[in-house]
Amino acid sequence: MDDPIETQFLIVGAGPAGASLACFLTMYGLKGMIIASASGTANTPRAHITNVATMECLRDLGIEEEVMKLAHTGSVLQHVRWCESLAGEEYGRVYGFGNAPDRKGEYEHASPSKLVDIPQTLLEPILIRHATTHGFTVRFDTTLLHFEEAAVTEKDSSSGTSIVATVRDELTKREYRIRTKYLFGADGARSKVAKQINLPMVAKPGGGMAINLQVKADLSHLMEHRPGNLHWIMQPGRDDSKDNFGTICVARMVKPWNEWLFTIARPALDPSQGTASNLPNEAYLDRIKEAIGDDTPVEIQHASRWFVNETYAETYSKGNVFCLGDAVHRHPPSCGLGSNTSIQDAYNLAWKIAYVEAGLATPSLLDSYSLERQPVGEGIVTRANDAWRDNAPVWEALGTLPQATNPSALVELKSLTTPEGDARRARLREALAKVQWEYNGLGAEMGQHYVSSGIYLADDEEEFLLGERATRNPILHHEPSTYPGRRLPHVWLNSAVPKHPISIVDLAGHGKFSLFTGRKGGQEWKEAAGVVGKALGLSIEAHSIGFRQDWEDVYYRWEELRGVDESGAVLVRPDRFVAWRAKRLPEGGVSACAAKLEGVMRSILGLE
Ligand code: FDA
Repeated sequence: MDDPIETQFLIVGAGPAGASLACFLTMYGLKGMIIASASGTANTPRAHITNVATMECLRDLGIEEEVMKLAHTGSVLQHVRWCESLAGEEYGRVYGFGNAPDRKGEYEHASPSKLVDIPQTLLEPILIRHATTHGFTVRFDTTLLHFEEAAVTEKDSSSGTSIVATVRDELTKREYRIRTKYLFGADGARSKVAKQINLPMVAKPGGGMAINLQVKADLSHLMEHRPGNLHWIMQPGRDDSKDNFGTICVARMVKPWNEWLFTIARPALDPSQGTASNLPNEAYLDRIKEAIGDDTPVEIQHASRWFVNETYAETYSKGNVFCLGDAVHRHPPSCGLGSNTSIQDAYNLAWKIAYVEAGLATPSLLDSYSLERQPVGEGIVTRANDAWRDNAPVWEALGTLPQATNPSALVELKSLTTPEGDARRARLREALAKVQWEYNGLGAEMGQHYVSSGIYLADDEEEFLLGERATRNPILHHEPSTYPGRRLPHVWLNSAVPKHPISIVDLAGHGKFSLFTGRKGGQEWKEAAGVVGKALGLSIEAHSIGFRQDWEDVYYRWEELRGVDESGAVLVRPDRFVAWRAKRLPEGGVSACAAKLEGVMRSILGLE
């Protein structure tokens, strides 16, 4: 075989995890290669809800505006509905995705970014274009077969490459090798990389299979008075003996209102009967027409299937091999957390790789990737599956529980004079109240808390919340905090010479550490940041916030949230998570601040 191709960073997978990792690495001027067995970017919409935590990552990359141009937000996502058919009777609806009147403000307070609906088919090309125009090459139709740790020879040592991957070009069937220093397994739910490094997996029994049908159908006339991006169509009286497609179908808007994804949830198909994607489209047409409920013309473009998984890895890396995305967390689409978490894995990992590669941190910093992201992955797998299970009471109330279909449920629901009717309507109401957590889980999306050597906790007591903040539902509500390991809370700031307001989130990031301080200790901390930055060869951007400071805390929101005195400081990592905070200015002026800050930075970067 020919000599291997050389690269420093080989990413396996061009989905949201792999493509975004390449983008985040380019923020540090790093160049590398992506391979993907697929022939291109996603050919079915799959992920669509992109939450504000992810949008903040894309904002740091500078592509948020581009995403916004193609994304949908606001009233298009206003409702999630349960109905007899899209044209037929409605049983109930909940506000979705921060659009409830009492939740809108909370979403606005939480982030400068907006939650949007952008199908994976549109997001992935943006990421790939960014990666390839900033230093990464992409080889589609290229499958990783296996990889080996190679001894580092003298020739290699300049680049430090030590992993040799064997890949196959799927067009020519030619096999060749790629030598790399780092290998990233962003290769999805059947990850070869995770398998080869034997990542320990916890797999709970799966919750069945579903079929996705990508469809063109102009349903504008049905959305005029019932807008929403998700519609659960519940048909307990449906005779499914001819197709085993069950009684539940979900219609998801892909493009308002003429592109849709119909999911046949919980079909009673015996997997041995063949796969969903093998069946001819005609087999699905009748089912979709039943779900629509009128004679709108329908064109099926694609059929695929997916499984309801409850699987997560217990660790994410081994040596210089790191896994991310669905390779390490697999779950149903409920709550829309998959692609979001994959992109956030990448955001967490990229700056650490970059700092180690630049010699600004030791490789021990890389251990914090698994320590910080694994609990997040485990948490979202559980959340998405709990949310999936929370649907069962709705299905029961509407008679569509797969193992116990009850056609008379709807008769009972509509009976206005019987106690059974009252009881069924009450059960539906209660079930919908719980299911709403799935569609408005701001807390689940924003409330990550990292604990690792990449966070400096020694100067803080245990975290506790006060009053209402302590008792609110942590899935629904995000409690902003500067406790080390928490996401930097968003606040709007202005400058003394009024400009457009700027979010503190935008002052942080950009690949640098940031230090936020106030009027009383501002000068000392700022000087200390300069001294420490120089000593460590990196940049710590210091900002003083408060009355007539660099940034005016116009709404006094930073004062409310900063968790330190006006003379204190909050240190934020390049991924905009709080690394450490000083309650107040230490005695001893600049040199005391610098000594403390340098100790903290050395600890975080593993330089001690
Ligand atoms: P992904 O599977 O996307 O990509 C894997 C990549 O690896 C591909 O490029 C593939 O070609 C490549 N590959 C695999 N094996 C390889 C090999 N051996 N060699 C080379 N390349 C290889 N998420 C979300 O956040 N919000 C949402 O609203 C939804 N909604 C949603 C709806 C539906 C119906 C589904 C099925 C899923 C969602 N998701 C979601 C989940 C989301 O689609 C999923 O979590 C992400 O695609 C995962 O991204 P990854 O990049 O990890 O894997």
